[in-house]
Amino acid sequence: MNKIIDLKDLLKYEILDLYSAEEQIIEGLPAMIEKVNNPKLKETLSNHIETSKTHKQRLDTIKQTLMTDDDVKDTEGFFSGLFGGSNTVTSRGIEGLLKEAEKMMNEDMTEEAMDAAIIGAAQKIEHYEIAGYGTAGAYARELHLESIKNDLEKTLQEEYDTDDALTKLAVGRVNPIAENAVDTDDQERSDEESYDRLTNSVSIMTSSDPSPDEE
Ligand SMILES: [Fe+2]
Repeated sequence: MNKIIDLKDLLKYEILDLYSAEEQIIEGLPAMIEKVNNPKLKETLSNHIETSKTHKQRLDTIKQTLMTDDDVKDTEGFFSGLFGGSNTVTSRGIEGLLKEAEKMMNEDMTEEAMDAAIIGAAQKIEHYEIAGYGTAGAYARELHLESIKNDLEKTLQEEYDTDDALTKLAVGRVNPIAENAVDTDDQERSDEESYDRLTNSVSIMTSSDPSPDEE
C-alpha cells in the first residue's frame, strides 16, 4: 500500500477531491433548481452554478501548476495507489450529499417546505466546500505556494458569500413561510431559535480548524 508522503501530496489529493466536487455540483444543481419555488432562491442557486464553473477553472490552473509529469505518468507511486492507477478522484463526500438531496426532494412536501429543505441541502454542500477549500488553502500557505493559496482563498470567500446568501434567504423569508405552511406541532420552533441554529452552524464552520478527518 502506497502512502501519502508529504503535505504537498495531501494538497494534491484535496485539489482533486474539490475538482470532482465542483464537477458534481455543476451537474447536480439544475435538478435542485428545478424543484425550487422561490425566485430569489432559484437565482442564488443558478448563480452558484456559474461561480462553480469559475472555481473549476481555478482548480484546473492549480492542477497544472501542482501536478508534475511524474504524477501523471507514475504507475506505482502515490496516485496509482490511491486512485486505482489514475490521477483523478471522485469526491464521495459530495456524491453522498447530492444523493441525500435527491432522496429528500423525492419526499412529498409543501412547496414552501421544499424550498427550506433545498436550502438546507445546498448549505451542507457549501459547508463541505468551505471545509475543503479552507484545508487546501492552509496546506498551500504552509508550503509557501502563494498564487495557489491566493486562488484557493478567493474561492473560499466566494463559498462563504453563497452560504451567507442562503442563510439570509432561509431566516429572512423561506423558513418562516415554510413554518406556516406545514403547521404541525413539531414545527413550533421560533424564528429566533431557527436563526440561532443556523448562525451557530455557520460560526462553527468559521471558527473551527478545518480538519479532513472530522466525523
Ligand atoms: Fe465552489
